[in-house]
Amino acid sequence: MLKSLDEQARAIMRGNDQGTYTMPTEGLYPYQWNWDSAFAAFGFATFDLARAWVEIETLLTGQWENGMVPHIIFHEASDGYFPGPSEWGANQTPQTSGISQPPVAATFTRAIFEKNPEAGRSHVEGLFPKLLAWHRWFIDNRNENGMIVVNHPWESGRDNAPDWDEAMENVDTSNVGEYIRNDTSHVDPHMRPNQLDYDRFMAIVYAGRGCGWDEAEMAKNGPFRVADPGMTFILLRANRDLLALAEQLGEPTDEIKGWISLLESGVQQLWNPAIRAYDALNIRTGNFAGSMSSSSFLCWFAGIEDSSALTEFDRIAAVSKYSFPSHDPESDRFEPLRYWRGPAWGIINTLIGIGLAEMGHHKQAEALRDDTASLITQSGFAEYFNPVDGSPAGGKDFTWTAAIWLAWASPSLHTKEN
Ligand code: DGY
Repeated sequence: MLKSLDEQARAIMRGNDQGTYTMPTEGLYPYQWNWDSAFAAFGFATFDLARAWVEIETLLTGQWENGMVPHIIFHEASDGYFPGPSEWGANQTPQTSGISQPPVAATFTRAIFEKNPEAGRSHVEGLFPKLLAWHRWFIDNRNENGMIVVNHPWESGRDNAPDWDEAMENVDTSNVGEYIRNDTSHVDPHMRPNQLDYDRFMAIVYAGRGCGWDEAEMAKNGPFRVADPGMTFILLRANRDLLALAEQLGEPTDEIKGWISLLESGVQQLWNPAIRAYDALNIRTGNFAGSMSSSSFLCWFAGIEDSSALTEFDRIAAVSKYSFPSHDPESDRFEPLRYWRGPAWGIINTLIGIGLAEMGHHKQAEALRDDTASLITQSGFAEYFNPVDGSPAGGKDFTWTAAIWLAWASPSLHTKEN
């Protein structure tokens, strides 16, 4: 039984493997997505280390000259995804979107390297300057006093989280016009962002395209600029892993150490005492979102201890049949099936669980892993899950759910049966 789920996970990853990159799932997401790919590499590393390196190396082929690593790389033409290359208008080869995504790649590069440093060294030597340039791009362009901002909800990876509600209300959709969404032909619309969200997503894409994705212009006048606790914690953690790689390679470390101090103090501005959580902050209005989301609990992953966060984590875990909901289940904005407004996501559980364990909260880390394993055992390798009843949601046969099963959640990792 355990064995067969491991085998199923490997088969899903092989099935979604396009040779040099892995699509998240057929139909809904037919190209290479940034953080999906980094998770895929983490999963491949459990059974094919060489393929894991290829995944990350292919991701970095999409890097822009300014260091940005885009959230989608359209390696090959494929019907059925919207918005495609012409909507983005990014003029890159290979074709890409115009925004980034949470930079988990350095963290998984380090994890893969540590599995076999000898075999990994030449890969890390090639990847290190590219990862460094990407992190520098974040600091140069998305840093507001040590808080990392997103210019589009898609950049956060948490598209329709309540974190963005207040800022999204100010996005003018009058430039959008008619378009046809494809996501709702693949997945039940109740599990996806609603139409008004989509109009706003597209308005922000067209604003970026309209200024040629000029970072200075978007920072000054872009329709959406929100400091994201998720992005800030993930980049902080990724900088710690990049620093470890720099030390391995004998590369300079001062710049990276500076980024770590900057973000360590910057992220404290995102603590919202009114909700006892790290919260999103709209740079345009100075308002907090008032949203307790799963990304608030990435503090441990970033190496930051927080006893109030642990109290809230325990409260949410106690009222959730399956941890960990993407939004506070006691909030009136909680929707158990709608994408990032409630469902549990295996990838976020993994990041939170790694952090909890590293910071010594083993009981919580193990409970989170057990819940993740139960969800997958009962409902398969779905994109995300209803935390109330455990039912599967979103795309099926999902690469990152298979990957985190293999690398973190599978009980066979902790028994001799593997
Ligand atoms: C989508 O198309 O839903 C993606 O989340 C954007 O990256």
